[in-house]
Amino acid sequence: MGIFTNHKLALIAGFVLAAVIVGIGMASGNGPAINELVGGLARWGHFLAGITWIGLLYYLNFCQVPSMGGLSADTKADLFKTDSVVRRVMWWFRWGAMFTLIFGIILYMGMMHGGMTPGWDIRIGGLFAIIMWFNVWFIIWPAQKKILGIVEGATADEKLALGKRALIASRTNTILSIPMLLLMASSAHFRFFG
Ligand code: HEM
Repeated sequence: MGIFTNHKLALIAGFVLAAVIVGIGMASGNGPAINELVGGLARWGHFLAGITWIGLLYYLNFCQVPSMGGLSADTKADLFKTDSVVRRVMWWFRWGAMFTLIFGIILYMGMMHGGMTPGWDIRIGGLFAIIMWFNVWFIIWPAQKKILGIVEGATADEKLALGKRALIASRTNTILSIPMLLLMASSAHFRFFG
């Protein structure tokens, strides 16, 4: 069956199943009001994009990067080419970051619109996450474009320097992700800063 062999169909199947759950829940009369539903779907989108982003951040930091050193130049060239694993990771990684931010801003604006003053937990957690988003889009991705050869013309020395710069940004994100997630969770359930 297509959904077990084609990842795009599997993704669509997951969304269809979620839509069925929303439809049944709403039709039962026990579901949320429409404005709560919109906020709820934004929260769900935020988690979905967030786990995609941070899952790949951990894959990169704990699995891919530590194993790259031992690979030959030919293997690396294969891993970096169009449609390769590394390019796919970078695509999901950077768009995961973008949609996490977009949904996070929608949630923040929803809180303000609803008359809630966002507490310090979410302000600090959101700030950490925005720094992480900046690192992805303005340091890691521009460097990767040159390292992977999407933007041509970088010398081997330049690629080495860009790799170091991207690694520092990526490790910074790994470190920030841990308190960031603590603050995302604490903001609605067990605030540290009121
Ligand atoms: C990119 C910038 C981000 C912004 C601006 C942001 C903003 C927000 C806001 C405003 C909320 C709602 C808090 C509340 O209802 O009290 C929230 C909740 C949450 N965020 Fe983020 N966020 C960001 C990144 C992330 C990332 C990367 C993750 C990682 C998965 C994440 C995970 C969560 C979780 C799990 C919650 C739910 C807390 C709960 O309701 O239990 N956020 N975020």
